[in-house]
Amino acid sequence: MTSKLRQSGGVIEAYREFLPVSPSTPIVSLAEGNTPLVYCPQLSERVGRGCEVYVKNEGVNPTGSFKDRGMSVAVSKAMEHGAKALICASTGNTSASAAAYAARAGIPCVVILPAGKIASGKLVQAVAYGARIVAIDGNFDDALRIVRELGDGHRFVIVNSINPDRIAGQKTAAFEIVDVLGDAPDFHLLPVGNAGNITAYWAGYQEYLAHQRSTKLPVMIGFQAIGAAPIFHDHIIDKPETIASAIRIGNPASWQQARIAIVESQGGIDVVSDEDILAAQSWLAQHEGIFVEPASAASIAGLFKCCDSDDAAYSFQKIRQTSRIVCTVTGHGLKDPDVIIGRMKKLKPIAATVTDVRRAIEL
Ligand code: F0G
Repeated sequence: MTSKLRQSGGVIEAYREFLPVSPSTPIVSLAEGNTPLVYCPQLSERVGRGCEVYVKNEGVNPTGSFKDRGMSVAVSKAMEHGAKALICASTGNTSASAAAYAARAGIPCVVILPAGKIASGKLVQAVAYGARIVAIDGNFDDALRIVRELGDGHRFVIVNSINPDRIAGQKTAAFEIVDVLGDAPDFHLLPVGNAGNITAYWAGYQEYLAHQRSTKLPVMIGFQAIGAAPIFHDHIIDKPETIASAIRIGNPASWQQARIAIVESQGGIDVVSDEDILAAQSWLAQHEGIFVEPASAASIAGLFKCCDSDDAAYSFQKIRQTSRIVCTVTGHGLKDPDVIIGRMKKLKPIAATVTDVRRAIEL
């Protein structure tokens, strides 16, 4: 690896002492991480009681999702071990990220995807970064099963979150939150699919506490889509369905670790409907100026459920005044524009005069 790759910043440079790297690990980075933790006044008002709500906007990572954190560490370690090719199963974001970091490292990347279920922006990314794309007649769980088998040989390094280096990289998001807030938040809400991210955040918060970088641990609350909620129902879902294709997963790889995070943090796992996810997606864009993909909006839909619903797994109606709440939004809205495009009215052009434009504005 050239010294130029060492100059690009990113999560390894920022948190080297907490990551499984040594001075001889070649760093493959696109300057991921250091994402904005955005204070959201209108979300805070929705919660009330003087609580502060922050959104950790992971959509501004180099390939537009949180996956880049773990991918930097996983691909760096793979290169250290002399990998010749990478492989992953994906609902879209992992494949986009793996393809980019493989390109950066100069090795091939194979991505196995459920046919017809990948958001258009993510598929475009995998193509642009030059991945070898294989679509299967099956869902993400089938794709991961195949990847596990192919990765058993020595040909491919698996860069799904079953690779512990991915989890190690992703825990840097928790470090950043503590570094910005000065302590861990009281609550952390996030979408759950394959359950790697909730596992990583919990590991990160615990590690920072152990190193006295924080004084407490947050309550972890995860949200699954109603039609793809194996952890909530406590059984495998054979045919998971949701508009939030990123979390369309019926048999999460990190199921047990997610359970541990939820139980140890005295948190919860809950479900949100596709309708609520899409409503939360537009609410966040139109009230706080943050445009996220549907899966990411599950944490915002979840926050609303905690505030409003009596049957929420965790109610915010009696939480301590001035609690700090962080919602992770995991991917950029432009990755998955199809629902919004489908609902858009066709734009009818008008005459190019100030009078016509003024009339059309109607404000
Ligand atoms: N949000 C987005 C945008 C995702 O892409 C994913 C997972 C999740 C949330 C859930 O995170 O799996 O760690 O619980 N996407 C994976 C993929 C499965 O293949 O891109 P998780």
